[in-house]
Amino acid sequence: MINKCLFPAAGYGTRFLPATKATPKEMLPILTKPLIQYGVEEAMDAAIFSMAIVTGRGKRAIEDHFDISYELEHQLEGKPDKEALLQDIRNIINKCTFSYTRQKQMLGLGHAILTGETLIGNEPFGVILADDLCFCEQKSVLAQMVEVYRKYQCCVVAIEEIDKNQTHKYGIIEGKYIDDTNDILRVSSMVEKPDPKEAPSNLAIIGRYILTPEIFDILRKTKPGRGGEIQITDALNTLAKEGKVVAYKFKGKRFDCGSVDGFVEATKFFYDLYKNRG
Ligand code: G1P
Repeated sequence: MINKCLFPAAGYGTRFLPATKATPKEMLPILTKPLIQYGVEEAMDAAIFSMAIVTGRGKRAIEDHFDISYELEHQLEGKPDKEALLQDIRNIINKCTFSYTRQKQMLGLGHAILTGETLIGNEPFGVILADDLCFCEQKSVLAQMVEVYRKYQCCVVAIEEIDKNQTHKYGIIEGKYIDDTNDILRVSSMVEKPDPKEAPSNLAIIGRYILTPEIFDILRKTKPGRGGEIQITDALNTLAKEGKVVAYKFKGKRFDCGSVDGFVEATKFFYDLYKNRG
């Protein structure tokens, strides 16, 4: 069973300056909902109710968001139309627990995940990078991955096919299909942000992982890689070589909300969805 989900949320969000100067990038809204709330709802759809968030300086708004605001509750009391606006977040606060730890230095995604060890302990867990916003009507991407984990009992990375000239932006996997529908591969190796010329495929890892706790010991030993940062891709590569990683072509859509283009695309998509539902 997967009971916890880790949210690395310490990054600066420099691509969104000045908006992210005093506001965490995870709190930027698509329509009226902050990115990280979409992530939390995705985890809940996978029956995960324990959220572990790795924050950093200047990220306190995230904690306040997932807490009761007595002032606001008081203000809106007896105004049903206004109260309805808080319904979703109230439901989240009632059902989930949130725990936080701070990453003191930005030493990479692998380091952020290792920082979360104190919140996760010795059990498999999900990881959501909130700026990769995923949408699937039937079943959230993390819920789909939990099913894959149940079957294979090893680390799972979500992947999608990308243009070959974009490989320098992603972790790229190499592997062989192991299911009938060609949705799941046994990963033999993976590499962080290779040049298109050196990329082993066009299958890119997106910001969704299910990790087994042995990753923590590996991360402790993982040397800084691409960009001088401790990369989760490098740590996972160690497990991939032992046949302990599968890659899953998820169903649904993914928006790169870490870029302005992806953010606008997501906004348009969710706006259309909202309008069509009336
Ligand atoms: C991170 C990972 C990369 C992965 C990507 C997905 O990179 O290091 O392997 O493909 O997330 O969004 P970042 O986008 O943080 O540079």
